[in-house]
Amino acid sequence: MRRILLTPENEQAVKSLEGRFPSPLHVRKTLTETTEARTKDGIVRVALACNVIPTAFHKLAYELWKNVNELPDNRPAAVGSASLPRIMDDGMLSGRKGVPKQTLRVLRKQGSAQGILGYLDATQSQACHRTPLTKRHPEMLEGNERLIKLVDELYRFYRPDSYARQRVEIEKVPMWRLWQTVFSTIYLARNFRTAYHFDSGNFKGVMTALMPMGTFTGGELVLPRWGLAIGFRPGDVLFFDSTEILHGNQPFQGSRLSAAYYCERDIADCGK
Ligand SMILES: [Fe+2]
Repeated sequence: MRRILLTPENEQAVKSLEGRFPSPLHVRKTLTETTEARTKDGIVRVALACNVIPTAFHKLAYELWKNVNELPDNRPAAVGSASLPRIMDDGMLSGRKGVPKQTLRVLRKQGSAQGILGYLDATQSQACHRTPLTKRHPEMLEGNERLIKLVDELYRFYRPDSYARQRVEIEKVPMWRLWQTVFSTIYLARNFRTAYHFDSGNFKGVMTALMPMGTFTGGELVLPRWGLAIGFRPGDVLFFDSTEILHGNQPFQGSRLSAAYYCERDIADCGK
């Protein structure tokens, strides 16, 4: 495995990028082969594993997952729109923030959609639950059991320390995970080029496993903090802490689906 050292960019400049789209100017280095990247404190921040998912697995996943159809209306930073208060029918400002309708129309036109499989932790308005998409389409999970278990094994192999912390957390609530894995949830995004954002619902201090599928060119994931781009392809899996590291995609052509395997932040509370 290739090992590289990550060097930070200007931190203030990087912070101001949230909600904006990646540009080639933010990239000094692009990873396209199996690599482990550390910062100088010795911590592994990024692990890219290439050609580790059999073609039959990611092709089947693409077929089973490509019809997700929810609009990403709850992710203003990721869609690159300001998080503005919504205007209610009576013209008053709603307390809720979200993605403006005009932006949603553009996203719908370009076929952008999302879906969530597995379990979600509790919010103020909802108890812990299996997602409606999973209830409607159980085959989306069941048809990919071998793939999901493989991604779990890869996570354990490539990032054992992070994996162990996540396992301790999820084993507090064994009913709220996907089979015997450390994942409670899989987030799916179709033809969705994200602006720079942090993932917010994931358990902190561990890693998310990110896997692209489909037939496309481009779509590199840019981590501006280190001027790094991940040129990953179907068959590859990327591990990084998506709650702590700002990330977004370069444009792509073709059909691209991406799956993020993670553990919900407060999943352990579901056992209470
Ligand atoms: Fe993300």
